[in-house]
Amino acid sequence: FDAQGFQRQLLEWYQGQKRELPWRIDGDPYKVWVSEIMLQQTRVDTVIPYFCHFMEQFPTVQDLAYAEEEKVLKAWEGLGYYSRARNLHQAAKEVTEMYGGKVPDTKVGVSNLKGVGPYTAGAILSIAYGMSEPAVDGNVMRVLSRIFAIDDDIGRAKTRKRFEAIVREIIAHDNPSDFNQGMMELGALICTPTSPSCLLCPVRDHCQAYEKGIETHLPVKAKK
Ligand code: ADE
Repeated sequence: FDAQGFQRQLLEWYQGQKRELPWRIDGDPYKVWVSEIMLQQTRVDTVIPYFCHFMEQFPTVQDLAYAEEEKVLKAWEGLGYYSRARNLHQAAKEVTEMYGGKVPDTKVGVSNLKGVGPYTAGAILSIAYGMSEPAVDGNVMRVLSRIFAIDDDIGRAKTRKRFEAIVREIIAHDNPSDFNQGMMELGALICTPTSPSCLLCPVRDHCQAYEKGIETHLPVKAKK
């Protein structure tokens, strides 16, 4: 596998085509963190206005930490999955008390925050701190299952670990942030679930599923 060629084509495409999203403007770790929590179960278009309002109301980790829970939940109203807001509020208090308001920049540090799982930890470390950590969510598993024609059940924890190991092999160490976001963006805009736009895909040359004509059969998700 030509990892360098893959990286080059992915990054070039991402840098030319990426959407201007409010959390992409300055790479503030707090903004990256909040956006990733909001994006866990909610679409980008829905998240944008909530994110902007949230940042006006709680511009820093400390502002969030010292806010009344009622205000935080009110700002979350309509996004759903309210435990995300409660966990984020709790974690903002931890960051304020234990780290002086600076979002931690280590795997152990971020992973110990309430509501931060392996995907979110990798997203914060790579996007906000430029560290070579995988950030494998459903979009990224779809892209990778097609690139490498992997038919493992993406519902299994073991499969996500396999994809994380692949990302560690192919990530662009000189730009892990754009690499991970490029993978997410590719999954969102081109390598979509039911009708991927392979003819527009910047990494089509590297895609085993495209070569075999099986892109719509991947990824495999076993029925529960
Ligand atoms: N989905 C999850 N994280 C994202 C990000 N940083 N940009 C766009 N879509 C996303």
